Amino acid sequence: MIKNRHLIDPMDFSTEEIDKLLSLSEQISKNPENHSKKCSGKILGSLFYEPSTRTRLSFESAMMRLGGQVIGFSEANSSSVSKGESIADTIRTVACYADIVVMRHPKEGAPKVASMYSDVPVINAGDGGHQHPTQTLTDLLTIRTVKGSLNNLKIGYCGDLKFGRTVHSLIKALSRYPDNEMHLISPKELKIPDYIKEEILDKQSINYFEHEKIEECINDLDILYMTRVQKERFFNEEDYIRLKDTYILDNEKMKKGSDQMIVLHPLPRVNEIAYEIDNDPRAYYFKQAKMGMYVRMGLISMLLGVC
Ligand code: CP
Repeated sequence: MIKNRHLIDPMDFSTEEIDKLLSLSEQISKNPENHSKKCSGKILGSLFYEPSTRTRLSFESAMMRLGGQVIGFSEANSSSVSKGESIADTIRTVACYADIVVMRHPKEGAPKVASMYSDVPVINAGDGGHQHPTQTLTDLLTIRTVKGSLNNLKIGYCGDLKFGRTVHSLIKALSRYPDNEMHLISPKELKIPDYIKEEILDKQSINYFEHEKIEECINDLDILYMTRVQKERFFNEEDYIRLKDTYILDNEKMKKGSDQMIVLHPLPRVNEIAYEIDNDPRAYYFKQAKMGMYVRMGLISMLLGVC
């Protein structure tokens, strides 16, 4: 039962629970109007201490499409956080006003702390370079819808694998499904953290390969998951400028990918996918963004026990 639980880490739900949530979200995506009153009288608290377009607006849209309402802030300075209020006190207060809370925070672990003080479910909407579990649910729903399964896939993750929390979360999630092969494509400076290799890939005996060039594996992939270089996590601007355009996916590179390969990106993109790719039938990143709204409708419904 997912009802009344928190979602802080993609592993908080079992694969059975995730499969159930994805099935509900798929159902909602086909007939959203059947769910338009499910959250009537319920309120979502939307606490964003860091910028967001997709996560914040898809959560807010999800709650409104379920018939609920939304309160919150989209920058910390417009709340009493600017006066020095702690996360514990903020969440204890917001939990008096809202039935469920979604939080994005630049500090790793902040939503976890919030969940320890909250009487209502807390959803992590991204904490620093750590985890982004609802982006993972979005990615899983998109992959399952397009590929029909979450097993036996060859997935290439490309870009900033060091700071990219969406990649960390998706690797964790897909490692639980059988026979997936992972290709990690990054410059040396932005390689996947050792803890992901040791605690997830090695522990789960995942077949994985590291590359510095997309061309080394693109012909073999079912999914190419592009990511931007995370400017906001760099300490040194020179390093960011040197690395930001390491990978630019263009028509030339796409010619080497199979017709069945799909391109995903959590967005926002900067330069890593050329605009010329947007009309390629294998480009799924805007459809993926829409899936994000349906999976958040499913998630809110299950956490509130209204499905
Ligand atoms: N994918 C994602 O998290 O986008 P936002 O930063 O716009 O929410």
